[in-house]
Amino acid sequence: MSLLAMDQMSLSFGGVMAVRQVSFEVRAGEVFAIIGPNGAGKTTLFNLVSRLYDADSGSLHFEGEEITRTPAHRIAEIGIARTFQNTELFEHETVLHNLLIGKHVYRRTNLVAEFLFLPSVRRQEIRFRREVEDIIDLLNLQHYRHQVIGNLPYGVRKMVEVARALCIKPKLLLLDEPSSGLNPEETEDLSFWIEDINEALGVTVIMVEHDMNLVQRTAGRVMALADGACLAIGSPGEIQSHPEVLRAYLGD
Ligand SMILES: Nc1ncnc2c1ncn2[C@@H]1O[C@H](COP(=O)(O)OP(=O)(O)OP(=O)(O)O)[C@@H](O)[C@H]1O
Ligand SMILES: [Mg+2]
Repeated sequence: MSLLAMDQMSLSFGGVMAVRQVSFEVRAGEVFAIIGPNGAGKTTLFNLVSRLYDADSGSLHFEGEEITRTPAHRIAEIGIARTFQNTELFEHETVLHNLLIGKHVYRRTNLVAEFLFLPSVRRQEIRFRREVEDIIDLLNLQHYRHQVIGNLPYGVRKMVEVARALCIKPKLLLLDEPSSGLNPEETEDLSFWIEDINEALGVTVIMVEHDMNLVQRTAGRVMALADGACLAIGSPGEIQSHPEVLRAYLGD
């Protein structure tokens, strides 16, 4: 069974058909990449999966359950996390606080218990801290733990955003252009983090990515989009030599 299945989804903005009858499936454990020229509909596809946008038609399933109409606020609960093309962190908060805020999506206690700061809340808070520290260690962010986001280099912020997404313990992680703005060394590090997230944490990854080297190194399968439509799905090698994909990138 596939972890995520999109079937014939479409979405238009006024006259622009951003996503045209796109179907694809991602199996548990895969690293799946989505490539395509600017404006191809990649981010819109993520917005459909994370339920920020309602599709005009088509359906979406996660772990066999239909989520076509599931409200966006339930998406983290069911195990889907994402990062944004332009990072969306709390600029004036520290790395640690940003991650703890991310963690609270998972909160199990009720508000009265929190107000009274009952032992159950305290225990949960301690567990959250420990789990956040594990993610900080995994992504090698120890050095930045108490630094304010606004003071961090861009590459570090991007990793903090990945860390925050991991705080909800997702089954599926959506990364929107994780390497954009990173230098070659940071991009190489990123490929190792993606491998670790996938293999050590067992998280299935879908990433929108322009850097074909990174795609080659990390992704098992790739979907190429152009003008909102799926051109082809295959191995990175197949996609890079696919005539229609080449035409979409290079023109006739
Ligand atoms: N909220 C919106 N309102 C109107 N049009 C939109 C909206 N979001 C996306 N579009 C349009 O839909 C099309 C696909 O945009 P999208 O952002 O999904 O592309 P993309 O593949 O992520 O591009 P990029 O590589 O530049 O990030 C574009 O024509 C874009 O202008
Ligand atoms: Mg985009």
